[in-house]
Amino acid sequence: MKKDTLAEVIIVPDAAAAGALVASRIAALIVANPATVLGVATGSTPGTVYAELARRVQRESLDVSRVRAFALDEYVGLDAAKPESYHSVIRREVTEQIGLDPANVRVPDGSIERIMTAGTEYDAGIVAAGGIDLQLLGIGRTGHIGFNEPGSSLASRTRIKTLAPLTRIDNSRFFASVEDVPLHCITQGIGTILEARQLVLLAFGPEKAEAVAAAVEGPLTSRVPGSAIQLHPRVTVVVDEFAASWLEYADYYRHCWQNKLYRCPDRRDAP
Ligand code: F6R
Repeated sequence: MKKDTLAEVIIVPDAAAAGALVASRIAALIVANPATVLGVATGSTPGTVYAELARRVQRESLDVSRVRAFALDEYVGLDAAKPESYHSVIRREVTEQIGLDPANVRVPDGSIERIMTAGTEYDAGIVAAGGIDLQLLGIGRTGHIGFNEPGSSLASRTRIKTLAPLTRIDNSRFFASVEDVPLHCITQGIGTILEARQLVLLAFGPEKAEAVAAAVEGPLTSRVPGSAIQLHPRVTVVVDEFAASWLEYADYYRHCWQNKLYRCPDRRDAP
């Protein structure tokens, strides 16, 4: 692969450093446009970003009253009031912690009765909001972004998907048992995700190293849905040393970041 086609990859010491860096980028967007539209992920990975944004709201008076947010995904058939639902996770970790107006935060509707139309309506809601300015992403060990498991169409829209067995095992830590993890989800499609104006993918820990390398440097393939980020003109990957450990061009990424070579004229908001 030609190096100039690679994503911006930033290798940080730990999740706290990633949280500070990404929160800075988001805060700069919000200052420039108070009605910024964020795409928010659930799971363990983005926790430091949300905590750091909350700190900036409380201690630095960052005004998030007009910020809007769209979640990536939700389980299908799980009562939204249950603590494991992504409605609940987003309410706790994003809406309440950061202090967003609940009316400005949306999560896909995973109720079985509405599942055939919920995806189209969700995508229409994103378009009506003017599109997502910055989409936060984690990555699963299957290579999924959102819950787009291997084999997902790279042009897919928000829709119902079947969770991979490995994803159900990984997410069973949030449930009483793996059997309690729903079989299905509703997730923003890869095509939906790629319409965001900026993508920021975060990953920490050695268990993410293989998926990160495949997504960033591997061939573009639906076998690794995360590799679709290579199609996006503006993507930043923020990883710790463990998650970076399979990256062939790690030294090149460090060279670019340390020498500020990512700061092109159109990157005025780069921290
Ligand atoms: C969550 C999501 C998933 C997670 C991924 C990593 O909304 O869409 O893609 O980002 O499964 O999960 P964690 O962060 O728990 O390792």
